[in-house]
Amino acid sequence: MVSPGVKSGLLMGFGSALVVFGAVVVVYWPPIFMSQLKSSMALTPTSSSFGIWRETPIPMFLECFLFNVSNVDDILARKNVTLEVVQLGPYVFREVHEKVNIHWNSNHTVTFYNQRYWYFEPEMSNGSLSDVITNINPVVVTVAYSMRHQRAAVNVLVDSFVRLFHSSVFVAAPASAWLFDGIDDPLLDVANDIPFLPLPIPFEKFGWFYARNGSIDFDGVFVMNTGTEDFSRLGMLELWRNSNRTFYRGECGEVKGSTGELWAPELGQPEVVIFAPDLCTYMALSKDKPVEVEGIEGVQYAANDSVFDNGHKYPRMACYCDSPGADCVPAGALNVSRCRYGAPAFVSLPHLYGADPYFPSKLAGLHPTPEHRFRLSLEMYTGMPLQVSAQLQINLLVRHIAGFT
Ligand SMILES: *[C@@H]1O[C@H](CO)[C@@H](O)[C@H](O)[C@H]1NC(C)=O
Ligand SMILES: *[C@@H]1O[C@H](CO)[C@@H](O)[C@H](O)[C@H]1NC(C)=O
Ligand SMILES: *[C@@H]1O[C@H](CO)[C@@H](O)[C@H](O)[C@H]1NC(C)=O
Ligand SMILES: *[C@@H]1O[C@H](CO)[C@@H](O)[C@H](O)[C@H]1NC(C)=O
Ligand SMILES: *[C@@H]1O[C@H](CO)[C@@H](O)[C@H](O)[C@H]1NC(C)=O
Ligand SMILES: *[C@@H]1O[C@H](CO)[C@@H](O)[C@H](O)[C@H]1NC(C)=O
Ligand SMILES: *[C@@H]1O[C@H](CO)[C@@H](O)[C@H](O)[C@H]1NC(C)=O
Ligand SMILES: *[C@@H]1O[C@H](CO)[C@@H](O)[C@H](O)[C@H]1NC(C)=O
Repeated sequence: MVSPGVKSGLLMGFGSALVVFGAVVVVYWPPIFMSQLKSSMALTPTSSSFGIWRETPIPMFLECFLFNVSNVDDILARKNVTLEVVQLGPYVFREVHEKVNIHWNSNHTVTFYNQRYWYFEPEMSNGSLSDVITNINPVVVTVAYSMRHQRAAVNVLVDSFVRLFHSSVFVAAPASAWLFDGIDDPLLDVANDIPFLPLPIPFEKFGWFYARNGSIDFDGVFVMNTGTEDFSRLGMLELWRNSNRTFYRGECGEVKGSTGELWAPELGQPEVVIFAPDLCTYMALSKDKPVEVEGIEGVQYAANDSVFDNGHKYPRMACYCDSPGADCVPAGALNVSRCRYGAPAFVSLPHLYGADPYFPSKLAGLHPTPEHRFRLSLEMYTGMPLQVSAQLQINLLVRHIAGFT
């Protein structure tokens, strides 16, 4: 016969065993969780992250806004006016991208190409692709820019040649041509036959996304870390276009950062680095604030005033200037000329948000707001992106060049 005392003793024994087991689980849960996480997140042909990485399962949209220059007549009449722009759009495209030609390397890296397709979404757009938009002709300013170190006498000749094809520096074209279809510029057709016309654009048309739809190699070939050896390097780019460097000097020319889809979770690191092939460099985003997206907690990272600096505010960003002491543009616009076939192209945040006041003084019609910040929210346990506002503006630098009208 078992006395009541023993029974309760047994129960208590069970109880404390459960408590001890519970304590063990509590103490060891994070390491177990991390090892589970590593095996499902580290990229292998069979990991659960692989499918998501290869073809993003959620819809993605490219929203394009175009500036229409509204006072062309006044400018051409040589009135003393500021260039005035009106924002049109968005012209919305659904983006489908897939990693192709995937090759697993033995050194914990994977080699791949990024193939992207875009499909116009008329219902989500404000405006039609046939809207006629007037802006600076990139081909004309590229010719002038590439002659900027020549003597005025030479430039007078080039100028009169350009004038055979173009009556002004402006061009009017439908939105579709500015974006994907390309603008047929006669200068591009003849450039190859004219030795004194330095036009390094290797396309027969000009458009900001021309020749990119469906292209496998436009974005270049990537070699990315799979995180199977060192989990903290998951998703980090090792090589881009077969090199660990781009053309920028020093630290600015390093190939580093995530390509955007995979991030090693580090629970609140002060900054994340994203590599942007469109800029041929990376962007550092600093920790901004905790966010909740559809009930899931995460941390928002955002670009601050350091993002397109070139040494004016942050000395370590001086390597984005061609050489120390060179004639660089004020802070807030990144020189991507060598990434854009020698065009005088500069990348900024939309509406030159956060840029030096010099820029708005030259341009009317910009309305920068905090909505124009470049932002990224990550779930902190898996590093999965929750919300992304990857937004950039491309600008053309137009300066007087001796000999050009
Ligand atoms: C763009 O501006 C020009 C004037 O420069 C105007 O004629 C044209 O209608 C504008 N386009 C749109 C789509 O508003
Ligand atoms: C052009 O306009 C600005 C401001 O309206 C004025 O300061 C400047 O003197 C004018 N320039 C000429 C050449 O009239
Ligand atoms: C649509 O574009 C027009 C300019 O063409 C602009 O005035 C209007 O605010 C835009 N609407 C939306 C919802 O963005
Ligand atoms: C890893 O292997 C790839 C393919 O063989 C090679 O291109 C790359 O240089 C290697 N990376 C490192 C860091 O050794
Ligand atoms: C991109 O290519 C696909 C397939 O060829 C086509 O259906 C789609 O309309 C193209 N998109 C654009 C914006 O031209
Ligand atoms: C980059 O590549 C060069 C030559 O290919 C090599 O000497 C150098 O160590 C590499 N740098 C890094 C950071 O891997
Ligand atoms: C801006 O972000 C950069 C990159 O994360 C960081 O180094 C810098 O300290 C930040 N600046 C400020 C004022 O927070
Ligand atoms: C932009 O970069 C190109 C190529 O590195 C250089 O030749 C040019 O002088 C730079 N322009 C400015 C305004 O910094």
